[in-house]
Amino acid sequence: MIEQYTPVKVQVKTETSDREQAVVIFATGERNNLDVPRELLDESSVEALDALLSAGAVSPAVCDIAQQIVAAKTARRLVVIGLGPTKKVSIQSYREAGGQVGKLARKHELSRVAVVIDPALPLGSHDAAAAVAGGICTGFFSFDKFKGRGQAAKKAKSPAIEVDLIVDAPAAEYAVASVGRAVEIAIAQNFARAIAAHPGNVMHPLALAQVAGDVARHCGLTLRTLNEKEMHKLGMGGMLAVGGGSPLTPPRMIVLEWKGSGSRALGSGREAATQRSRIDRKDVKAQPRALHPLLLVGKAITFDTGGISIKPREGMERMVYDKCGAMAVIGAMIAIARLRLPQRVIGILAAAENHVSDRAYRPGDILTMYNGVTVEVTNTDAEGRLVLADALAWGIETYKPSAVVDLATLTGGIVVALGREFAGLFCDDDPLAGEIASAAQRAGEKTWRMPFGEAVRDMMKSEHADIVNSAGRWAHPIQGAEFLRRFVPDDGTTPWAHLDIAGVADSDKASNQYSPGATGWGVRTLVQWVLGRP
Ligand code: BES
Ligand code: MN
Ligand code: ZN
Repeated sequence: MIEQYTPVKVQVKTETSDREQAVVIFATGERNNLDVPRELLDESSVEALDALLSAGAVSPAVCDIAQQIVAAKTARRLVVIGLGPTKKVSIQSYREAGGQVGKLARKHELSRVAVVIDPALPLGSHDAAAAVAGGICTGFFSFDKFKGRGQAAKKAKSPAIEVDLIVDAPAAEYAVASVGRAVEIAIAQNFARAIAAHPGNVMHPLALAQVAGDVARHCGLTLRTLNEKEMHKLGMGGMLAVGGGSPLTPPRMIVLEWKGSGSRALGSGREAATQRSRIDRKDVKAQPRALHPLLLVGKAITFDTGGISIKPREGMERMVYDKCGAMAVIGAMIAIARLRLPQRVIGILAAAENHVSDRAYRPGDILTMYNGVTVEVTNTDAEGRLVLADALAWGIETYKPSAVVDLATLTGGIVVALGREFAGLFCDDDPLAGEIASAAQRAGEKTWRMPFGEAVRDMMKSEHADIVNSAGRWAHPIQGAEFLRRFVPDDGTTPWAHLDIAGVADSDKASNQYSPGATGWGVRTLVQWVLGRP
């Protein structure tokens, strides 16, 4: 059920076979001084490569592609993909090149592909192989569940690919472990993208709770769901107000828990062994903290109309992606469970629709939130912070985490400020901010640290209640973060980071790694972060 969106099987090998329909190699260097691997290629591929080279068809520019049919009868082909200048080759270049391999396989309906990892390049073959594997999985992803009869003739026949990653023999053992991990993370990321792609009429809060239940059963996670009655008892004024406008698809607070496994879980190989011993050592030191899980909180507005402060019609359909913060959380929980990570991790999905109806909350309403803070609603379109507020306050009180990260498509303002490439990172705790930023960087997801503080905090004061949910036109993303701060204890016990992912959660253009639609941004960063935590 989780793998269905990633029909890719990856194996690590040390040589190509003649069953492959394509052999992919990477080119680096400069146009007239190319570095291409020959050692791991069969004879006919070397011939095809020479033909391409002498025709001047190969370019080392990032993700430029040259191809040549090697054997006419089987249409076996050699594909050369540019990786950029040798010294600049990074994990990210491999990931993107892998994305191109996935896209190419889909386009040409290839079912078996070999990718040769050049051991002469500066990065370790096992890291490179892992990045390529992850890239292939995200590049191959395509979501056509809702393609119907109208396109019967063209409907994709949901193909699958087998990938042989060819590495030099000494690297093979580590490559198996790191490739396996990268594929697990990509499977989880694609699942997040697929659920994100389900529109509002299908993926309402009740349906999302069901998905979470299926996920829990499949991955060995524990599920706990709060319904309206329970939220009412607990005093979750934010969740109930935002979700009130759609009584047939009411709000749900969805909690997934990974209880953590012993260090057994990490698999084999030297990398796993060093990691295991590192974790063992830290475990001893950090024994009492084992009680304190990591907490991930995601905004799951399954559709955001803006409510009574209704959004303009132009582009409103993009608001199906307003659940992407929670999609990152569910994806991360899947990967954390399937990798059997040792840490205890809680993931909360704050799910509601923001609708227009006679039950919808109104501008001017005053809400009492879970932690007793009262909020004057000045704009029903600033709804994400209201559901997150209850999720944060209740989640922190209930689970006593050692650190909290929330993700939300919170403001259009962050898109104006940072565009479609960077997520805004708000965090007062420098060590945690550093952890998140470097996890994101390793994961190939970009963040930019944003300021917040006193001045904007004062803006949020309300005449009639404690705070307003929106205070005019200035500094929207910072207002959002300052609002959320009121729902995290201020006694320094709970380091907290907020990621505003409104710009990066989806894309209207294809990139090297992705097709248009949800990107699954955050799954990789969160998993990377948890991997690095004691
Ligand atoms: N879901 C939107 C933010 C959003 C906008 C995400 C564009 C993706 C693309 C959020 O609920 C919202 O409406 N935010 C308002 C905040 C304002 C009312 C303070 C916004 O950005 O205008
Ligand atoms: Mn909104
Ligand atoms: Zn929203």
